[in-house]
Amino acid sequence: MSDLATLEADLSARIVAATDEASLDAIRVDALGKQGAISGLMKTLGTMSPEERQAMGPKLNGLKDRIGEAIVTKKAQLAEAALEAKLAAEKVDASLPPPAVRTGAIHPVSHVMEELARIFGEMGFALEEGPDIETDFHNFTALNFPPKHPARDMHDTFFLNATDEMGQRKVLRTHTSPVQVRTMLKQKPPIRMICMGRTYRKDSDATHTPMFHQIEGLVIDEVTTMADLKGTLMAFIKAYFEIDDVRVRFRPHHFPFTEPSAEMDVGCDRSGGSVRIGTGDDWLEILGCGMVHPNVLRACGLDPEVYQGYAFGMGVDRLATLKYGMPDLRDYFAADVRWLKHYGFSPYLLPGLAGGL
Ligand code: DAH
Repeated sequence: MSDLATLEADLSARIVAATDEASLDAIRVDALGKQGAISGLMKTLGTMSPEERQAMGPKLNGLKDRIGEAIVTKKAQLAEAALEAKLAAEKVDASLPPPAVRTGAIHPVSHVMEELARIFGEMGFALEEGPDIETDFHNFTALNFPPKHPARDMHDTFFLNATDEMGQRKVLRTHTSPVQVRTMLKQKPPIRMICMGRTYRKDSDATHTPMFHQIEGLVIDEVTTMADLKGTLMAFIKAYFEIDDVRVRFRPHHFPFTEPSAEMDVGCDRSGGSVRIGTGDDWLEILGCGMVHPNVLRACGLDPEVYQGYAFGMGVDRLATLKYGMPDLRDYFAADVRWLKHYGFSPYLLPGLAGGL
């Protein structure tokens, strides 16, 4: 092989093997730079005889052109490869995630609370909160439970060792009614509130757990009647059980904080071993309610000559059972994922009155 052919083969091999622009540029300098091999040979043309120059000139120019072109081509390839690598490294997957594998579920109690908040929310009730650990005043006294009255024991109260400012032992709230008191103490009528949350009583069997959930409602205004109470509760029952027609009846009852007091039953059908709301001629007790007792208004700083109102309270867990059919209340709080998988709700199914509960 001639020297030129060897030089070309050597440079071409180096060009092919180059892995980045810097090494390619080094080859360019070695070949075509001022001190480069090909440039050196070009300079010798001037020292040649005309015949030699005529023979060597085209060969050297050809070599110079081919090497220059090979470098330009390789440079473009390297740039493209670098871009490809960059694109691959910075790839963003903008497609939707695959359908979710359902590993978690919303507990029926949470789901029902969401439904209740929506229904009462659309009826203009605001959501209020109160603490699980209550003072005797809020849980009993302000609600017209006389001191030492057996009703305090009737609630199977959990008493704590800690005492409140009045030296009385605190309690785990036995109902959500103390939130009525808290709301009346901090807000001016008209009041239209609900409260949902945990309540506690020493009780445990298939239909009672020591911790359970209640929803409380309170409306205070200058003219609020038992008829408003009835209309509100009937609208609620229709919306919650998704039925068009509902039969209700009010049975006289006693609660210290309402006068008159009643329990409300809804018409149901018990044939076939399950309870179906909205049909049949049986009755199912569903909630307690009444007109707020003047003593409660007074304890909360409201003048019973000016204001009156109604209140109601019911068990959220029981509402869930009636609608979704979980048989044993204790399972609700056993933290068994198999139960939750079976009875739980998809987080994507947020209930709403417009879209359906
Ligand atoms: N607090 C009552 C209970 O736990 C339920 C109740 C009854 C609440 C009548 C009320 C009401 O607001 O008016 O048994």
